[in-house]
Amino acid sequence: MSAGKASTAHTPKRILVLGATSGIAEACIRSWAERGDMLYLVGRTASKVGVVVDDARVRGAAFVDSAVADLDDTAAHPQLLAHAINSLGGLDVAFVAMGTMGEQAQSERSFDAADAVLHNNFIAPASLLTWLANYCAQRHTGTLAVISSVAGERGRKSNYVYGSAKAGLTAFLSGLRNRIDREGVRVLTILPGPVKTAMTESMKGSEKFADVNKVAATIVGAIDKGGDVLYVPGIWKIIMGVIKLIPESVFKKLSLGAE
Ligand SMILES: NC(=O)c1ccc[n+]([C@@H]2O[C@H](COP(=O)([O-])OP(=O)(O)OC[C@H]3O[C@@H](n4cnc5c(N)ncnc54)[C@H](OP(=O)(O)O)[C@@H]3O)[C@@H](O)[C@H]2O)c1
Repeated sequence: MSAGKASTAHTPKRILVLGATSGIAEACIRSWAERGDMLYLVGRTASKVGVVVDDARVRGAAFVDSAVADLDDTAAHPQLLAHAINSLGGLDVAFVAMGTMGEQAQSERSFDAADAVLHNNFIAPASLLTWLANYCAQRHTGTLAVISSVAGERGRKSNYVYGSAKAGLTAFLSGLRNRIDREGVRVLTILPGPVKTAMTESMKGSEKFADVNKVAATIVGAIDKGGDVLYVPGIWKIIMGVIKLIPESVFKKLSLGAE
């Protein structure tokens, strides 16, 4: 941590990260650690979680604890979340960053594959958010920041199973916000366009995707500032606005990219 950062009067936030080994989450965690926040990091791969934990400690996080858990296991959520919040001594921000794109072609061949994508990107986050929303609403405080995707704004042949799970998540977040904003709980829907992470590295043209550190800086800023829906990079608000206006009779004949 630089001397400049140490001298700023930042009150450490208690931040729970679900899917802490995601490329986008890792970049956010670096910022939070450097400004001295308190972190509870959950990921499903022990070796990756260990790396993120060590890095957060080295960068100056005020507190770091972690759990290795498969977040698809919704039955385990209540105990996991209660333990995490107890370890942090409360909760200021829950950041839900887990997700998997899956293979669209496989999801078309087998509903088991589609079911796994829908569960991972919609059912499991909805389970986490149901528990977290009730916890925060009872205390009239907290921010629930959740990564959905512009892929959920309009279904396309290249990724409509993943996209429909994200569409469900975006609608869930809208309804959740409508329910608990009045209780003093913020819900931030994060809608990234294509970002350079492990998820997209095999995609055509991925070298032109958004830089993960810039995307993370925007997300960290939005969580601090407030707001309801964040397109990141911001140009995606305009792009998706145009894409949503295309008549279905035209749209069904187009072949838009996988990102
Ligand atoms: N990159 C993009 O272009 C883009 C665009 C729009 C939205 N998003 C969304 O942004 C979020 C972060 O993605 P990313 O780009 O950072 O990709 P990433 O690096 O591949 O991260 C995805 C993370 O989710 C974790 N995860 C998946 N299922 C899990 C489970 N059941 N339990 C625990 N952890 C689980 C993965 O853990 P393991 O590594 O251990 O498998 C991985 O760390 C996702 O929700 C993604 O859908 C990404």
